[in-house]
Amino acid sequence: MRYDPLRDLPASPGWKAGDVLVVFGELFGRGYANGIVDEARRAGMTLVGATVGRRDGSDGALRPLTPEELAAAEANLGGRIVNVPLEAGFDLEAVEGGPSPAEQLKRLKGDNWRELTFDQAALSRSRTAGAARFERNAAAFAAELAGLVPPGANLLIVHTMAGGVPRARALLPLMTRLFRGTGEKHLASGEVWNTELGRLWASSFEEVTARTFQRLVAATAPLRTPGRTVRYVAYGYHGCEVLIGGRLTWQSYTPYLQGWAKKQLELYAEEAWTAGVRATVFNSPEIWTNSSSLFSGVELSLYPLLTSIREAGRAGGGTAQAAADEAWARCAALLKPGATLEAMLARADRFLSDPVLAPFRGLEAWPHHSTREEMELMLPASEEVLGFSADAKNTVAGELSRTVFGAVGRLMLAESWAPASPVRWLNHDVIAKRVVTA
Ligand SMILES: NC(=O)c1ccc[n+]([C@@H]2O[C@H](COP(=O)([O-])OP(=O)(O)OC[C@H]3O[C@@H](n4cnc5c(N)ncnc54)[C@H](O)[C@@H]3O)[C@@H](O)[C@H]2O)c1
Repeated sequence: MRYDPLRDLPASPGWKAGDVLVVFGELFGRGYANGIVDEARRAGMTLVGATVGRRDGSDGALRPLTPEELAAAEANLGGRIVNVPLEAGFDLEAVEGGPSPAEQLKRLKGDNWRELTFDQAALSRSRTAGAARFERNAAAFAAELAGLVPPGANLLIVHTMAGGVPRARALLPLMTRLFRGTGEKHLASGEVWNTELGRLWASSFEEVTARTFQRLVAATAPLRTPGRTVRYVAYGYHGCEVLIGGRLTWQSYTPYLQGWAKKQLELYAEEAWTAGVRATVFNSPEIWTNSSSLFSGVELSLYPLLTSIREAGRAGGGTAQAAADEAWARCAALLKPGATLEAMLARADRFLSDPVLAPFRGLEAWPHHSTREEMELMLPASEEVLGFSADAKNTVAGELSRTVFGAVGRLMLAESWAPASPVRWLNHDVIAKRVVTA
C-alpha cells in the first residue's frame, strides 16, 4: 500500500458536454454519488444509471425494475437507467436444491454464532453462482451501455457499490451489539470476525464491495475503444486525515468491517492500472448516508472539517473567506438555542484526542477491531455532539455530509481526467480547499 493523499486541487478536467457519466450502483438521496452526478450535470455530461433490481418479498427472484419504478429512478437521476438487475452477492443464491446462505443462517440463534458451522460446499456453490449471475448481468449492462455512448464521446464510470451484510433476521441483534453495544451488551468485532459466520460475512462484503469493481472493468472492456477516453473511479474508505488538537491526523472509524473488502478494492484498481486501464479508488471521508447511518459515531470525525474550512478560508482570503463564513453560518443555523459551534467542536475534539484511541491510529495495521473501552467512549460522545443540533432530522452532521459529498464529487470528476495513481486519499485539507475555492 502506498499512502497517496491528494493535497492540491486538480486542474479543470477535459470532460465536455456530451461525454457520458455512468453511475454503477443506485443513487440514493444523500449518497456519495450525488456529488459527482451534480458536477457532471454542470459540465453538460449525459447521465446513465444502473439498478440493483428488486426482489418481491424477502427472497423473491431478482427482477428488473417495473415501468413505474424505472420512470421514478430515471426522474431521480435525470438520465437513462439501464434496466438490468445488478445486485451482487450470493446470500440468497440456492444451487441445485441446496440451502442458500440465508437459509443456512436460519440456524443462527442467540449466542450460537460462536460455534455455528456451515455447509461449506453449499456456500462455495452459492458464491460461484452469485458471481456468474453478476458477470452475466454486468455483460448485459455493458452491451446496452455501448448503444448509449455516442461515437466520439468519452466515458467516466463511477462505481458506488458497497454492502453485502447477509440478509438474515438473526444477524440484526448481533449488529446492534457490534455497533451500539456497551457494558455487557458490547460485542468486540474481532470475536465475530474470527468465526465461520465472520468469514461468510467477509466473503459477502468482498463480492459486493470489491469484486463488483473488478468485474465492471472486465465487462466494459469492449467500450475502451481507441480514441475514446475511458476512466473508472470508485469510492473507497481507508481512514481519513482530520484536524485533531489542531494537527492534521490520520484516524479511522472502528469497527469498519468492510475494511478488508475495501483493501481488496484498492488492489483491483492497482491491477487494472497495471494492465493500462485508468481506474482510481478515492478513499473518502466519513459521512452520513443511507449506508453509514447505522454506524453510530462515524460522524464524529466529520466535525473538525469546520476548522479545516475556516483555516482554508483564512489562507485564501476574499471569496474563500466568505465561502468559509457561509459554511459556518449554515451549520450555526442548525444549533439549539444557546449552543455554539466552538463548544461542539471542542467536545468532538475531546473524543478524537482521547488516549484510548491511540492504538487505533496505525494506518499500516488498518482495519482495527473494536474494544469495549473505545465503544464506550465513542457512543456517548456521538450522542452528546448530536445533541448540539436543534433538530435530530436536520443536523450539523447532515449538513457537513452534503458539503463533503459535493466537494468529493468535484475533486473526483476533475482528477479522473488525468489521474496520477490508482489509490488516492481525499482528506479534510483538500476537501476544505475545494469548499472555499470558487
Ligand atoms: N458513507 C461513508 O462514510 C463513506 C465513506 C467512504 C466511502 N464510502 C463509499 O461510498 C460508496 C457509496 O456509499 P454511500 O455511503 O454513499 O451510500 P449509498 O447507500 O448511497 O450507496 C451504496 C451503494 O451500494 C449499492 N449496493 C448496496 N448493496 C448492493 C448489492 N448487494 N449489490 C450491488 N450494489 C449494492 C447501492 O445500490 C448504492 O449504489 C460506497 O462504496 C461506500 O463504501 C462511504
